[in-house]
Amino acid sequence: WPVYAPYVKAINELKKERNAVLLAHNYMTPEIFHCVGDIMGDSLHLAKEAARAEADVIVQCGVHFMAETSKILSPEKTVLIPDSRAGCSLAEGITGADVRALKAKYPGVPVVTYVNTTAEVKAESDICCTSSNAVQVVESLGVPEVIMIPDQYLAMNVAAQTNVKIHTYAGSCEVHERFTPEELRAYREDDPSIVIIAHPECPPDVVKEADFSGSTSAMINWVKVNKPKKVVMVTECSMSDNVAAETPEVEFVRPCNLCPHMKRITLPNILDALVYMHEEVTVDPALAARARAAVERMINLPV
Ligand code: 13P
Ligand code: SF4
Repeated sequence: WPVYAPYVKAINELKKERNAVLLAHNYMTPEIFHCVGDIMGDSLHLAKEAARAEADVIVQCGVHFMAETSKILSPEKTVLIPDSRAGCSLAEGITGADVRALKAKYPGVPVVTYVNTTAEVKAESDICCTSSNAVQVVESLGVPEVIMIPDQYLAMNVAAQTNVKIHTYAGSCEVHERFTPEELRAYREDDPSIVIIAHPECPPDVVKEADFSGSTSAMINWVKVNKPKKVVMVTECSMSDNVAAETPEVEFVRPCNLCPHMKRITLPNILDALVYMHEEVTVDPALAARARAAVERMINLPV
């Protein structure tokens, strides 16, 4: 990739100069994921590593809620996002006032909040969860019912795996909601030996068609461990590209639903972020303290 080489060199040099660590979500394009990322992973892994990082600067290569989570967990560090317009349909679909309305509707019922939310929404919550620990988080509370926000599909997929009653909210991921069971059945008809793995933000009838469902990192690990001959990863496009580079023996069938928000992060704007130290992500300290309690309660669970 000669076109990327000058950017990769400059970014890696500036990271050292600034004592910066680059957190790259699994949906970053391969030249970011493999050439400049220091810590790669799913939302849970990145949140934990943000808390542990010894660097002065975190460059969050992912979407805005991820950068906010890093700032909430590391208020003393400078957190940069290369493009602050990198949003998320889940985070944008719910406000703190919506959560307060739900709490009024279901008094005393704890609120389990997906990390794909703003600090304001986390601050109204009892505990956070990610796609890799959602069932364990719900069951850790030892209660008969919870409110689970904002992703209705993640909540329905969790409900299928627990006896805890789940009150849902109408949020959804604009990338994963587009997959259909019909398209997955068509892959199987075409090649009955194909393995299908899906992210739990997909609708339940899609997840039902899959052989495995898990967080982005769980999906990657599944492919690395099981090395299927042919696989379809039912999630954002870059995932297959990133794993394919490490598992040449596996054939990837690629239905491609792009996350336009994740794709706002590029090598040129990562370089700009490090040169100009922008765009800095800030969270009001009082709000951050309330949000931190919900995130740390999740991180401190033995899961
Ligand atoms: P993961 O926590 O599985 O990485 O999911 C984050 C996300 O935004 C998926 O769309
Ligand atoms: Fe949000 Fe969906 Fe994009 Fe993930 S893939 S960041 S949930 S819009």
